[in-house]
Amino acid sequence: MAKALKVAVLSGDGIGPEVMAEAVEILECCARLDDFSLDFRPALVGGIAIDKTGKALPSETLKICEESDAILFGSVGGPKWENLPPPEQPERAALLRLRKHFGLFANLRPALCMPELVAASPLRPDLVEGGFEILCIRELTGGLYFGQPKVTREEEGETIAIDTMVYRRSEIERIAHLAFQIARSRKRELVSVDKANVLENSLLWRAVLKRIGDAYPDVRLNHLLVDNAAMQFIKAPRSFDLIVTENLFGDILSDELAMLTGSIGMLPSASLGSDLRGHFRFGLYEPSGGTAPDIAGKGIANPIAQILSASMMLRYSFGMSVSASRVEQAVKRAIGKGYRTLDIASPNTKAISTREMGSQIRAAL
Ligand code: IPM
Ligand code: MG
Repeated sequence: MAKALKVAVLSGDGIGPEVMAEAVEILECCARLDDFSLDFRPALVGGIAIDKTGKALPSETLKICEESDAILFGSVGGPKWENLPPPEQPERAALLRLRKHFGLFANLRPALCMPELVAASPLRPDLVEGGFEILCIRELTGGLYFGQPKVTREEEGETIAIDTMVYRRSEIERIAHLAFQIARSRKRELVSVDKANVLENSLLWRAVLKRIGDAYPDVRLNHLLVDNAAMQFIKAPRSFDLIVTENLFGDILSDELAMLTGSIGMLPSASLGSDLRGHFRFGLYEPSGGTAPDIAGKGIANPIAQILSASMMLRYSFGMSVSASRVEQAVKRAIGKGYRTLDIASPNTKAISTREMGSQIRAAL
């Protein structure tokens, strides 16, 4: 058997540990079925890490991540840590730092609305009938999240807050290339979302996308303003296949797309860098939803986003597309058989627990 693949397991806070347990069990099943071996390395992150070590991203955790082939991430944050100084809060001090540290500039968020789950979508049935799958590619290490200065200060007798939006041509070029390459493996249609009628950043974004697009004449490129995009997604979700956009727009639009599919509990994500370890691409895999403090500890969270994040890890970091598809098919089969957690249950179906959902998906592997 080949060398074990090292996976840093950062469960974090809220529902993180509950859904992570299911994803890890699924991966263990895959390893048995497809004859590979995984070396799981659990590490503290987020609020629980602050409680135990004083830091949201302890150096020991960062070291474990650096020595691993991929990071499987749960979620971080919660009311308990909301009053810390912002730079020390779990989201910024752990998650954003990990993204920047590993140069994870490309965030892939597939919003899958399965035909069986059309009833869970808040949209009118005729708009989503038959289901859809839209992949949102979000630039993850630039823009307003990281631009400097980022500060709140007193000026002329009042408080002013400053965030800075910065994109370099090279940052746009690398995400554009990735988007066009992914378009080639799909419908060869790419929609770039910006705010070119107002932002300098977006003028550069649009110009770079057009230029890079010349090298991919087989891919149809369209541009949408972000406000219009937000509207079109609701009006005609099935007319979209692949979207690429900057960091903050991608944050907002990916939540919208997730909700169109019925629940944010279904949306996985892969955050990829260009760092290739051996022939693998390093990445961080996490559900797009948060810690869901309101349901944490109740055992009712939907583990599917975490499980599908694990399958994205198999595909993108380990090149194991057979195992990855096996997991995706198992999720579809469990849904097809009618198993639903609370977030996706319709009024007349019985909701099952996180554990039961996990074991139904394992049974379908
Ligand atoms: C996401 C989250 C994060 C983000 C938060 C937790 C910092 O909303 O991954 O979409 O804004 O990127
Ligand atoms: Mg978000």
